[in-house]
Amino acid sequence: MSARTPRILPPTDAAIAEAVSLLEHGELVALPTETVYGLAGDATADRAVAAIFAAKDRPRFNPLIAHYTAAEAAKRDVVFDDRAIELGRRFWPGPLTLVLPRRADCRVSLLASAGLDSQAVRVPRHEVAQRLLTAFGRPLAAPSANRSGRVSPTRPEHVADELGDRVALILDGGPCAIGIESTVVALLGGESVLLRPGAVTMEEIEAAIGPLAHAGEQGRPRGPGMLASHYAPDLPLRLDATELRAGEALLAFGPHPLAGAALSFNLSAAGNLEEAAAQLFTALRRLDRDGRRKRLIGIAAMPIPDRGLGRAINDRLRRAAAPHSVT
Ligand code: TXA
Ligand code: MG
Repeated sequence: MSARTPRILPPTDAAIAEAVSLLEHGELVALPTETVYGLAGDATADRAVAAIFAAKDRPRFNPLIAHYTAAEAAKRDVVFDDRAIELGRRFWPGPLTLVLPRRADCRVSLLASAGLDSQAVRVPRHEVAQRLLTAFGRPLAAPSANRSGRVSPTRPEHVADELGDRVALILDGGPCAIGIESTVVALLGGESVLLRPGAVTMEEIEAAIGPLAHAGEQGRPRGPGMLASHYAPDLPLRLDATELRAGEALLAFGPHPLAGAALSFNLSAAGNLEEAAAQLFTALRRLDRDGRRKRLIGIAAMPIPDRGLGRAINDRLRRAAAPHSVT
């Protein structure tokens, strides 16, 4: 955490205008999206993109998503085939990112794509993100607004905790409605590859464009940023817990939380996966912070059904539970 706290402003027209002015000078602004908060900079400016990597301590080989107001705008920079057109038509604006071939005259900084010949593009649907993109008039590079390898922020105060004065301004869009990062699909050769599960489910994508291959399957490289350990709290996380061990905080799900926890957070007492996704990163932050204060030794997570949005939740939990040394 930084000693100085950044400014958090409600998204008035004046705040949007100030954000645009900062972005035009190569500075960084945190903006709300429907998934998580992003750390945004001018995607077309090498200096701004370099500043994003520096602020997050992010490895330079892990490429960034460029955000646009609409698919039409993204088509200036990347090549859309029939699958991309169909996915954009169905799910944009919304929590879906497409990795597509860069055009020869792509305006997005090569630093953002980490030197690859592909570029990730997304059209967010959050009203504040749309207003900022429209006012700025160029694509915004924006990874999640956390330090590299840590839990993504879903509230403005999470961004302040993560980045302190490394961000000039945080636009307050309240808590993120979805709460986990976008689904990432690569459409580069003939294959469609799911690089990261998210709120647009595998089932929905396959209904639109046919079968998906999974990143990480035998012989298929994972995305460059798909490190095994990610989204990590400091306390160790134990998955699929069916009983609570001494000194553990509880990450519960459903109407029958395990008994006896000194500290617990129920992702959804009703067993609702949308509610659980929206609460996930807040829950991990809170159990981690309060658990360390209470000198607990770990977090036990109850099982989450592995279907629909549950797949994305389990993906994040598995990576939060992986050994930290990888990052
Ligand atoms: O919901 C989201 O996607 C949020 C909001 C702010 O839009 N952004 C986000 O960005 O989660 P980030 O950088 O934290 O995650 C983007 C993921 C990374 O795992 C990165 O490796 C992958 O997308 N990615 C980006 N460009 C890629 C490329 N050209 N090829 C393969 N993977 C790519
Ligand atoms: Mg991230």
